[in-house]
Amino acid sequence: MQQVNIGIIGSGTVGGGVYKAIQANGALMASRLGVQLRIAKVAVKDLKKARNVKISPALLTTDWQSVINDPSIHLIGEFVGGTTTARTIVLNAFRQGKSVITANKALLSAHGEELFAAAQRYGTNLYYEASVAGGIPIIKVLREGLIGNRITRIYGIVNGTCNYILSRMKLEGADFAEVLADAQRLGYAETPPDLDIDGHDAAHKTGILASLAHGFWADPKQTYVEGITAITQQDIRFAGQLGYTIKLLGIVKKFDSKRRAQSAKVQVSVYPALLPNSHVLANVNGVFNAILVRGDIVGDTLYYGRGAGQDATASAVLSDLADAALDLKCGAKSRICPFVPHERDGAVLPIGEVVSRYYVRLSVIDKPGTLAKITAILGSSNIGISSVIQPEGHEGESVPLILMIHDATNANMTKALAKIGRLSAVKAPPVMIRVESFE
Ligand code: HSE
Repeated sequence: MQQVNIGIIGSGTVGGGVYKAIQANGALMASRLGVQLRIAKVAVKDLKKARNVKISPALLTTDWQSVINDPSIHLIGEFVGGTTTARTIVLNAFRQGKSVITANKALLSAHGEELFAAAQRYGTNLYYEASVAGGIPIIKVLREGLIGNRITRIYGIVNGTCNYILSRMKLEGADFAEVLADAQRLGYAETPPDLDIDGHDAAHKTGILASLAHGFWADPKQTYVEGITAITQQDIRFAGQLGYTIKLLGIVKKFDSKRRAQSAKVQVSVYPALLPNSHVLANVNGVFNAILVRGDIVGDTLYYGRGAGQDATASAVLSDLADAALDLKCGAKSRICPFVPHERDGAVLPIGEVVSRYYVRLSVIDKPGTLAKITAILGSSNIGISSVIQPEGHEGESVPLILMIHDATNANMTKALAKIGRLSAVKAPPVMIRVESFE
């Protein structure tokens, strides 16, 4: 049987998980693939560091360059994380004619265009199934399963940490900081976890999906990102009263241009949104991720699974190892294509032009005329209100005022809320959360 020798660089959550998974299922994979997967070396930062996965000491080295340069090693697994050393590792491996497997979404977001071009130049490949949505094979779905479709919508819960936090806040009334500490302990969160809770990890993943679906590199600088740090128990409760659940969503929506000559515009954003409780994505809880992909031929499809954690990520890496091993076996280095640009004229739609519905929470003084002033500002901006909740309070005291708003552009809404925020009766900056209706 043919043997593929793998050099693993980095033995943290991902690298350690891959090592463990190959120990567990390497023989099964060999019987399915007709290729034996053998870990030849593991580069680590510190030989003496205690690890939760026991790696044979004979495999360990602190010199990652020696792993890449070893002529007996066919494939490199980049599992160091970050965007600097990781980029150097990938480029050096390509120069040696070796393909690379990575789970590093931050790296792809920052340098994907360069790295995929380099892979093609050197006749190598970059495999990245584990970079988005943990154990869900969503890259394969877009690249292979739905290749015959134009993708019109992607809605994804793609950050396990945020979904874990929001789920426990809603279902248990748990405190944000406490749940975040649990997510860190369980190996879900990035280091630092700001990447998760500020929405950037989800933005990296959403950008990768957008690029793959639409064939132009969605510039991460143009992705609109809001995290979950401003979400309060109060908003979760009011949303619940109105029949909604708050989730952090990655959204990729294609808007066809009216004139043929104009380029297609694609919304690429990440923000917390109110989802109708009846929608399947509203019921995805804990560390689970789920992605709804709509294709013009297939219609709606849905993918669900563990979005973070050592084993879920290792499962996705194993599928890349299988692809890479088969590519080597068949002598077809790009049997599985890396990202191939195919619609160079696409562009990201600026968030100001995106139309949405909104939940708005104001903290207002309960006195005559307050509501009239607020509705006058919204009316003069041509923004319609679909419902209002104001719990009974005491006159002259500060009370929450919840407004559900009909379709309006983000630009129009932001301007109107800035004016509302300046009213003397409004006692705190307005809270605005978009409402997703999945049209
Ligand atoms: N921190 C990431 C998450 C890990 O919580 O989804 C998986 O990419």
